[in-house]
Amino acid sequence: MNEKIKSLVQISLERINNCNSINDLELIKIELLSKNGSFANLMKDLKAIPNDQKPYYGKIINEAKSEVLNVFSQKFSFLNEQALKEKEKSEALDVTLSKKREIGAFNPINIVKKDISDIFIGMGFSLADGPEIELKKYNFDLLNIPDDHPARDLTDTFYITDDLLLRTQTSGVQIRVMEKEKPPIKIICPGKVYRPDDDATHSPMFHQIEGLYVDENVTLKDLKKTLEEFAKLFFDKDTIVRFRPSFFPFTEPSVEVDLSCRMCHGKGCSLCKYTGWLELLGAGVVNPIVLEKAGLDSKKYSGFAFGIGVERAAMIKYGIPDMRLMFDNDIRFIKQFKF
Ligand code: DAH
Repeated sequence: MNEKIKSLVQISLERINNCNSINDLELIKIELLSKNGSFANLMKDLKAIPNDQKPYYGKIINEAKSEVLNVFSQKFSFLNEQALKEKEKSEALDVTLSKKREIGAFNPINIVKKDISDIFIGMGFSLADGPEIELKKYNFDLLNIPDDHPARDLTDTFYITDDLLLRTQTSGVQIRVMEKEKPPIKIICPGKVYRPDDDATHSPMFHQIEGLYVDENVTLKDLKKTLEEFAKLFFDKDTIVRFRPSFFPFTEPSVEVDLSCRMCHGKGCSLCKYTGWLELLGAGVVNPIVLEKAGLDSKKYSGFAFGIGVERAAMIKYGIPDMRLMFDNDIRFIKQFKF
Protein backbone atom coordinates (compact mmCIF):
# COMPACT_ATOMS: atom_id res chain seq x y z
CA MET A 1 0.00 0.00 0.00
CA ASN A 2 2.82 2.36 0.94
CA GLU A 3 4.39 1.88 -2.48
CA LYS A 4 1.11 2.49 -4.23
CA ILE A 5 0.58 5.76 -2.34
CA LYS A 6 4.15 6.90 -2.96
CA SER A 7 3.96 6.15 -6.65
CA LEU A 8 0.60 7.93 -7.06
CA VAL A 9 2.01 11.01 -5.33
CA GLN A 10 5.08 10.93 -7.53
CA ILE A 11 3.10 10.53 -10.76
CA SER A 12 0.67 13.24 -9.67
CA LEU A 13 3.39 15.75 -8.88
CA GLU A 14 5.18 15.03 -12.13
CA ARG A 15 2.03 15.51 -14.16
CA ILE A 16 1.17 18.73 -12.35
CA ASN A 17 4.67 20.11 -12.69
CA ASN A 18 4.84 19.30 -16.39
CA CYS A 19 1.47 20.78 -17.12
CA ASN A 20 1.46 24.17 -18.83
CA SER A 21 -2.14 24.97 -19.41
CA ILE A 22 -5.00 25.73 -17.06
CA ASN A 23 -7.35 23.54 -19.07
CA ASP A 24 -5.02 20.52 -18.85
CA LEU A 25 -4.55 21.20 -15.15
CA GLU A 26 -8.31 21.11 -14.61
CA LEU A 27 -8.44 17.73 -16.36
CA ILE A 28 -5.59 16.39 -14.22
CA LYS A 29 -7.44 17.55 -11.12
CA ILE A 30 -10.55 15.64 -12.15
CA GLU A 31 -8.48 12.56 -12.90
CA LEU A 32 -6.64 12.62 -9.60
CA LEU A 33 -8.70 14.39 -7.01
CA SER A 34 -12.37 14.08 -7.96
CA LYS A 35 -14.89 11.67 -6.40
CA ASN A 36 -13.92 8.96 -8.87
CA GLY A 37 -10.29 10.04 -9.20
CA SER A 38 -7.11 8.12 -8.39
CA PHE A 39 -7.00 9.18 -4.72
CA ALA A 40 -10.65 8.23 -4.18
CA ASN A 41 -9.86 4.83 -5.74
CA LEU A 42 -6.96 4.38 -3.33
CA MET A 43 -9.39 4.93 -0.48
CA LYS A 44 -11.59 2.22 -1.93
CA ASP A 45 -8.57 -0.12 -1.86
CA LEU A 46 -8.60 0.24 1.94
CA LYS A 47 -11.45 -2.24 1.99
CA ALA A 48 -8.93 -5.02 1.37
CA ILE A 49 -6.74 -3.94 4.29
CA PRO A 50 -7.11 -5.30 7.84
CA ASN A 51 -9.38 -3.16 9.97
CA ASP A 52 -6.73 -2.17 12.50
CA GLN A 53 -4.53 -0.70 9.73
CA LYS A 54 -7.30 1.22 7.99
CA PRO A 55 -7.00 4.43 10.08
CA TYR A 56 -3.26 4.51 9.55
CA TYR A 57 -3.45 4.18 5.76
CA GLY A 58 -6.50 6.41 5.58
CA LYS A 59 -4.49 9.15 7.25
CA ILE A 60 -1.51 8.64 4.95
CA ILE A 61 -3.70 8.75 1.83
CA ASN A 62 -5.35 11.96 3.04
CA GLU A 63 -1.99 13.55 3.75
CA ALA A 64 -0.72 12.52 0.32
CA LYS A 65 -3.87 13.94 -1.25
CA SER A 66 -3.49 17.27 0.50
CA GLU A 67 0.16 17.46 -0.55
CA VAL A 68 -0.89 16.95 -4.16
CA LEU A 69 -3.76 19.43 -3.74
CA ASN A 70 -1.33 21.97 -2.37
CA VAL A 71 1.01 21.67 -5.33
CA PHE A 72 -2.00 21.75 -7.62
CA SER A 73 -3.19 25.05 -6.08
CA GLN A 74 0.23 26.63 -6.41
CA LYS A 75 0.47 25.58 -10.04
CA PHE A 76 -3.05 26.81 -10.67
CA SER A 77 -2.25 30.30 -9.28
CA PHE A 78 0.96 30.38 -11.26
CA LEU A 79 -0.72 29.50 -14.58
CA ASN A 80 -3.57 31.90 -13.84
CA GLU A 81 -1.21 34.75 -13.20
CA GLN A 82 0.70 33.96 -16.36
CA ALA A 83 -2.50 33.95 -18.43
CA LEU A 84 -3.45 37.31 -16.94
CA LYS A 85 -0.07 38.77 -17.81
CA GLU A 86 -0.40 37.49 -21.38
CA LYS A 87 -3.82 39.09 -21.63
CA GLU A 88 -2.58 42.39 -20.27
CA LYS A 89 0.27 42.31 -22.75
CA SER A 90 -2.01 41.66 -25.69
CA GLU A 91 -4.51 44.29 -24.64
CA ALA A 92 -1.97 46.90 -23.61
CA LEU A 93 -2.42 50.33 -25.12
CA ASP A 94 0.40 51.00 -27.51
CA VAL A 95 0.63 54.78 -27.46
CA THR A 96 2.96 54.81 -30.42
CA LEU A 97 0.12 53.38 -32.53
CA SER A 98 -1.86 56.62 -32.21
CA LYS A 99 0.60 58.16 -34.65
CA LYS A 100 -1.16 56.26 -37.38
CA ARG A 101 -4.57 57.65 -36.44
CA GLU A 102 -6.11 60.50 -38.36
CA ILE A 103 -5.65 63.79 -36.51
CA GLY A 104 -8.89 65.72 -35.96
CA ALA A 105 -9.73 69.15 -37.30
CA PHE A 106 -11.96 72.05 -36.37
CA ASN A 107 -15.44 71.90 -37.83
CA PRO A 108 -16.11 74.89 -40.14
CA ILE A 109 -19.03 75.84 -37.86
CA ASN A 110 -16.61 76.41 -34.99
CA ILE A 111 -14.10 78.18 -37.22
CA VAL A 112 -16.75 80.58 -38.51
CA LYS A 113 -18.23 81.08 -35.03
CA LYS A 114 -14.82 82.05 -33.74
CA ASP A 115 -13.92 84.23 -36.74
CA ILE A 116 -17.21 86.17 -36.52
CA SER A 117 -16.93 86.51 -32.74
CA ASP A 118 -13.34 87.76 -33.03
CA ILE A 119 -14.36 90.47 -35.49
CA PHE A 120 -17.09 91.80 -33.17
CA ILE A 121 -14.87 91.47 -30.10
CA GLY A 122 -12.38 93.59 -32.04
CA MET A 123 -15.13 96.23 -32.38
CA GLY A 124 -15.66 96.32 -28.62
CA PHE A 125 -18.45 93.76 -28.22
CA SER A 126 -18.19 91.32 -25.33
CA LEU A 127 -19.51 87.77 -25.09
CA ALA A 128 -22.87 87.03 -23.44
CA ASP A 129 -24.57 83.71 -22.80
CA GLY A 130 -28.08 82.38 -22.30
CA PRO A 131 -29.81 79.02 -21.79
CA GLU A 132 -30.68 76.74 -24.70
CA ILE A 133 -33.70 75.52 -22.73
CA GLU A 134 -35.46 78.85 -22.56
CA LEU A 135 -38.63 80.32 -21.11
CA LYS A 136 -41.31 81.19 -23.65
CA LYS A 137 -41.22 84.63 -22.09
CA TYR A 138 -37.67 85.32 -23.31
CA ASN A 139 -37.95 83.51 -26.63
CA PHE A 140 -41.22 85.21 -27.66
CA ASP A 141 -43.24 87.39 -25.23
CA LEU A 142 -40.64 89.97 -24.23
CA LEU A 143 -39.45 90.18 -27.86
CA ASN A 144 -42.86 91.57 -28.78
CA ILE A 145 -43.76 88.48 -30.78
CA PRO A 146 -47.59 88.34 -30.89
CA ASP A 147 -49.46 85.37 -29.39
CA ASP A 148 -50.71 84.29 -32.81
CA HIS A 149 -47.33 84.54 -34.57
CA PRO A 150 -46.67 81.38 -36.65
CA ALA A 151 -43.15 81.05 -35.19
CA ARG A 152 -44.84 80.02 -31.92
CA ASP A 153 -46.61 77.06 -33.57
CA LEU A 154 -45.79 73.49 -32.57
CA THR A 155 -44.58 72.99 -36.14
CA ASP A 156 -41.96 75.74 -35.70
CA THR A 157 -40.84 75.33 -32.08
CA PHE A 158 -39.79 72.39 -29.91
CA TYR A 159 -41.82 72.83 -26.71
CA ILE A 160 -40.85 71.09 -23.47
CA THR A 161 -43.82 72.40 -21.47
CA ASP A 162 -46.28 75.21 -22.18
CA ASP A 163 -43.76 77.73 -20.86
CA LEU A 164 -40.47 76.04 -21.63
CA LEU A 165 -38.92 75.39 -25.04
CA LEU A 166 -35.68 74.86 -26.92
CA ARG A 167 -34.82 78.40 -27.97
CA THR A 168 -35.54 79.04 -31.62
CA GLN A 169 -33.31 82.12 -31.74
CA THR A 170 -30.57 83.73 -29.68
CA SER A 171 -32.58 86.98 -29.58
CA GLY A 172 -33.88 86.15 -26.08
CA VAL A 173 -30.39 86.77 -24.75
CA GLN A 174 -30.91 90.46 -25.63
CA ILE A 175 -33.66 90.65 -22.99
CA ARG A 176 -31.70 88.67 -20.41
CA VAL A 177 -28.74 91.04 -20.78
CA MET A 178 -30.85 94.24 -20.77
CA GLU A 179 -32.65 93.08 -17.61
CA LYS A 180 -29.33 92.72 -15.83
CA GLU A 181 -27.12 95.47 -17.22
CA LYS A 182 -27.39 99.19 -17.74
CA PRO A 183 -26.29 100.75 -21.07
CA PRO A 184 -23.89 101.03 -22.71
CA ILE A 185 -24.54 97.42 -23.61
CA LYS A 186 -22.50 95.95 -26.44
CA ILE A 187 -22.69 92.18 -26.61
CA ILE A 188 -22.67 89.26 -28.98
CA CYS A 189 -24.05 85.86 -28.08
CA PRO A 190 -22.98 82.85 -30.16
CA GLY A 191 -25.07 79.77 -29.45
CA LYS A 192 -27.15 76.82 -30.53
CA VAL A 193 -30.78 77.23 -31.56
CA TYR A 194 -33.41 74.64 -32.47
CA ARG A 195 -36.25 74.43 -35.01
CA PRO A 196 -38.16 71.50 -36.48
CA ASP A 197 -36.61 71.81 -39.96
CA ASP A 198 -34.36 69.37 -41.77
CA ASP A 199 -33.13 69.68 -45.36
CA ALA A 200 -30.07 70.80 -47.36
CA THR A 201 -30.25 74.34 -45.99
CA HIS A 202 -31.90 73.71 -42.57
CA SER A 203 -30.90 71.63 -39.59
CA PRO A 204 -32.99 71.02 -36.43
CA MET A 205 -30.05 72.40 -34.46
CA PHE A 206 -28.01 75.24 -35.84
CA HIS A 207 -26.01 78.21 -34.61
CA GLN A 208 -26.67 81.91 -34.45
CA ILE A 209 -24.69 84.88 -33.29
CA GLU A 210 -26.86 87.56 -31.76
CA GLY A 211 -25.59 91.10 -31.51
CA LEU A 212 -26.94 93.95 -29.41
CA TYR A 213 -25.72 97.51 -28.95
CA VAL A 214 -27.74 99.82 -26.69
CA ASP A 215 -26.68 103.27 -25.62
CA GLU A 216 -27.80 106.87 -26.01
CA ASN A 217 -28.20 107.90 -29.66
CA VAL A 218 -27.53 104.56 -31.33
CA THR A 219 -29.06 104.66 -34.82
CA LEU A 220 -29.58 102.65 -37.99
CA LYS A 221 -26.47 104.37 -39.32
CA ASP A 222 -24.36 102.70 -36.61
CA LEU A 223 -25.88 99.34 -37.51
CA LYS A 224 -25.12 99.86 -41.18
CA LYS A 225 -21.52 100.84 -40.60
CA THR A 226 -20.94 97.97 -38.14
CA LEU A 227 -22.35 95.31 -40.46
CA GLU A 228 -20.59 96.68 -43.54
CA GLU A 229 -17.32 96.58 -41.68
CA PHE A 230 -18.04 93.06 -40.46
CA ALA A 231 -18.85 91.81 -43.99
CA LYS A 232 -15.63 93.25 -45.38
CA LEU A 233 -13.55 91.69 -42.62
CA PHE A 234 -15.28 88.30 -42.66
CA PHE A 235 -15.66 87.84 -46.44
CA ASP A 236 -13.40 90.22 -48.32
CA LYS A 237 -12.88 93.93 -48.61
CA ASP A 238 -14.68 94.15 -51.96
CA THR A 239 -17.91 92.77 -50.52
CA ILE A 240 -20.88 95.06 -51.08
CA VAL A 241 -23.66 95.01 -48.49
CA ARG A 242 -27.30 95.77 -49.22
CA PHE A 243 -29.94 96.64 -46.62
CA ARG A 244 -33.44 95.55 -47.58
CA PRO A 245 -36.53 96.60 -45.58
CA SER A 246 -37.95 93.68 -43.65
CA PHE A 247 -39.99 92.95 -40.55
CA PHE A 248 -39.15 91.52 -37.15
CA PRO A 249 -41.41 92.23 -34.15
CA PHE A 250 -38.40 93.12 -31.97
CA THR A 251 -36.84 95.69 -34.32
CA GLU A 252 -38.28 98.81 -35.90
CA PRO A 253 -37.23 99.48 -38.58
CA SER A 254 -36.06 95.98 -39.53
CA VAL A 255 -33.69 95.07 -42.31
CA GLU A 256 -32.45 92.00 -44.08
CA VAL A 257 -28.80 92.26 -45.02
CA ASP A 258 -27.62 90.85 -48.34
CA LEU A 259 -24.12 90.44 -49.74
CA SER A 260 -23.03 90.86 -53.31
CA CYS A 261 -22.79 87.29 -54.67
CA ARG A 262 -19.31 85.94 -54.07
CA MET A 263 -19.41 83.74 -57.15
CA CYS A 264 -20.66 86.10 -59.87
CA HIS A 265 -20.00 89.46 -58.12
CA GLY A 266 -23.49 90.70 -58.83
CA LYS A 267 -23.88 89.51 -62.43
CA GLY A 268 -26.29 86.70 -61.55
CA CYS A 269 -25.57 82.97 -61.24
CA SER A 270 -27.10 79.76 -59.90
CA LEU A 271 -25.75 80.39 -56.36
CA CYS A 272 -27.57 83.72 -56.02
CA LYS A 273 -30.53 82.48 -58.07
CA TYR A 274 -29.68 85.13 -60.67
CA THR A 275 -30.36 88.00 -58.25
CA GLY A 276 -26.72 88.98 -57.74
CA TRP A 277 -27.30 88.96 -53.95
CA LEU A 278 -27.03 86.44 -51.10
CA GLU A 279 -29.17 86.81 -47.97
CA LEU A 280 -26.93 86.95 -44.91
CA LEU A 281 -28.73 88.09 -41.77
CA GLY A 282 -31.59 89.89 -40.08
CA ALA A 283 -31.15 93.10 -38.12
CA GLY A 284 -32.75 96.35 -37.10
CA VAL A 285 -33.15 99.14 -34.60
CA VAL A 286 -34.34 97.69 -31.30
CA ASN A 287 -38.08 98.25 -30.98
CA PRO A 288 -38.70 100.75 -28.09
CA ILE A 289 -41.40 98.34 -26.84
CA VAL A 290 -38.67 95.72 -26.34
CA LEU A 291 -36.42 98.17 -24.48
CA GLU A 292 -39.32 99.06 -22.16
CA LYS A 293 -40.26 95.40 -21.61
CA ALA A 294 -36.64 94.77 -20.57
CA GLY A 295 -36.78 97.67 -18.12
CA LEU A 296 -34.87 100.33 -20.09
CA ASP A 297 -36.04 103.88 -20.72
CA SER A 298 -36.73 104.01 -24.47
CA LYS A 299 -36.70 107.82 -24.44
CA LYS A 300 -33.15 107.85 -23.20
CA TYR A 301 -31.75 104.77 -24.92
CA SER A 302 -31.82 103.29 -28.37
CA GLY A 303 -30.03 100.37 -29.92
CA PHE A 304 -29.49 98.03 -32.81
CA ALA A 305 -29.57 94.26 -32.97
CA PHE A 306 -28.68 91.58 -35.47
CA GLY A 307 -28.79 87.82 -35.77
CA ILE A 308 -26.33 85.94 -37.97
CA GLY A 309 -26.85 82.30 -38.99
CA VAL A 310 -23.44 80.70 -38.50
CA GLU A 311 -24.01 77.75 -40.87
CA ARG A 312 -25.37 80.12 -43.51
CA ALA A 313 -22.32 82.37 -43.17
CA ALA A 314 -20.06 79.28 -43.50
CA MET A 315 -21.94 78.04 -46.59
CA ILE A 316 -21.59 81.45 -48.24
CA LYS A 317 -17.96 81.93 -47.28
CA TYR A 318 -16.75 78.49 -48.32
CA GLY A 319 -19.33 77.66 -51.01
CA ILE A 320 -20.67 74.64 -49.07
CA PRO A 321 -23.70 73.36 -51.00
CA ASP A 322 -25.36 71.27 -48.25
CA MET A 323 -25.58 72.22 -44.56
CA ARG A 324 -25.64 68.57 -43.54
CA LEU A 325 -22.01 68.16 -44.62
CA MET A 326 -21.03 70.24 -41.60
CA PHE A 327 -22.88 67.95 -39.20
CA ASP A 328 -21.61 64.65 -40.67
CA ASN A 329 -18.12 65.35 -39.32
CA ASP A 330 -16.42 63.41 -42.10
CA ILE A 331 -12.75 64.15 -41.48
CA ARG A 332 -12.07 64.44 -45.24
CA PHE A 333 -14.58 67.29 -45.37
CA ILE A 334 -13.72 69.18 -42.22
CA LYS A 335 -9.96 69.00 -42.87
CA GLN A 336 -10.40 71.41 -45.77
CA PHE A 337 -11.04 74.34 -43.42
CA LYS A 338 -8.29 76.10 -41.57
CA PHE A 339 -8.39 78.43 -38.60
N1 DAH B 1 -33.90 86.17 -34.47
C1 DAH B 1 -34.00 86.31 -35.91
C2 DAH B 1 -34.16 84.92 -36.53
O1 DAH B 1 -33.86 83.96 -35.91
C3 DAH B 1 -32.80 86.99 -36.47
C4 DAH B 1 -32.73 88.41 -36.06
C5 DAH B 1 -33.36 89.38 -36.85
C6 DAH B 1 -32.07 88.79 -34.93
C7 DAH B 1 -33.32 90.70 -36.50
C8 DAH B 1 -32.04 90.14 -34.56
C9 DAH B 1 -32.67 91.09 -35.36
O2 DAH B 1 -31.41 90.55 -33.47
O3 DAH B 1 -32.60 92.39 -35.01
O4 DAH B 1 -34.60 84.84 -37.64
